[in-house]
Amino acid sequence: MKINIHETKERSLKYVVIAAMYNNEWLMVKHKDRTTYEIPGGHIEVGETALQAAERELYEETGALSFELLAVGDYSVERYDSCNYGRLFYAKIDTIGSLPDSEIVDVKPMQAEFKWTYEKIQPILLQYVKNFLSIREVELKDARGLYELFHQLDQETKYMMYEADERQTTIEEVRHRIEMIRKNGIMYVIDDNGLGGFIMMNKGSCNRIKHVGYIVIGMKLSIAGQKYGTLLFNRLFEYSKLNHLHRLELSVMTHNLAGVSLYKKMGFQIEGIKNDAMLIDGEYVDEYHMSKLLEVSNE
Ligand SMILES: CC(C)(COP(=O)(O)OP(=O)(O)OC[C@H]1O[C@@H](n2cnc3c(N)ncnc32)[C@H](O)[C@@H]1OP(=O)(O)O)[C@@H](O)C(=O)NCCC(=O)NCCS
Repeated sequence: MKINIHETKERSLKYVVIAAMYNNEWLMVKHKDRTTYEIPGGHIEVGETALQAAERELYEETGALSFELLAVGDYSVERYDSCNYGRLFYAKIDTIGSLPDSEIVDVKPMQAEFKWTYEKIQPILLQYVKNFLSIREVELKDARGLYELFHQLDQETKYMMYEADERQTTIEEVRHRIEMIRKNGIMYVIDDNGLGGFIMMNKGSCNRIKHVGYIVIGMKLSIAGQKYGTLLFNRLFEYSKLNHLHRLELSVMTHNLAGVSLYKKMGFQIEGIKNDAMLIDGEYVDEYHMSKLLEVSNE
């Protein structure tokens, strides 16, 4: 069985799972026919959107009365003969009433001794939510952390712009860059006891290219492969839709297999090759130019 997380998008979804936080603790629920505990969730009913199903299930299974719900992504559970998709949400519950009449008989903050109902699925989903929650918009106070992150990435990867020790930027300049990106686009950072990675997007400044965003992403090697890339893009797509961006674009070295594969997974297409776009260790390297078009709503 393989669990994965993807872009939040129109697709055939069967379930919703809602990792719910109340008073800084994760809530787990117990079904009347089981001895094990699980994260709230259930089937999406006919005629319901995933969001409506999440609101209903959260109320039915925990008694939550007021809460904030955020979509984290669409998860898949792949078995040898099937692959089902569900939408993963995070809920921050403010008030809880009594448990309505449902199949749930107990709601408790998560405890280490709990046995999980879906132990091969739900702990992984909860980890995706925790990773998602460590992503936030960059702030001016991040200047030093970002400076250190950029320097570490320059040392660790040859897939980005700067050579190791080439970057001359000062912390004050990074601070200015944060100011600029907050005006002309968006930057999200992974903040898990220090900055571990980022995604940033500059919006076109002239009227004719205001619908375009140019993206750069990078993260420390130590956290690669933990779906942060997918989750960073999900946050970026959410921002892009709210800000009526239509075209997202980026460049990637053709031999950066992880990068190319991530961008394809997130719906980017190769538009062309920039021949000999970079010179790395004395060798010319090609880059793909990739883009993704988003539907723009008139709301
Ligand atoms: C490339 C990078 C952004 C990927 O982020 P990530 O958090 O590791 O990616 P995720 O864990 O979300 O994986 C998403 C997809 O990326 C691709 N991917 C990630 N690591 C991969 C690897 N080592 N090999 C091949 N594909 C890989 C896969 O398609 C994966 O899909 P899956 O979820 O079906 O497995 C990250 O590794 C990175 O920052 N690398 C160094 C800097 C860099 O290359 N920046 C991009 C410059 S253009």
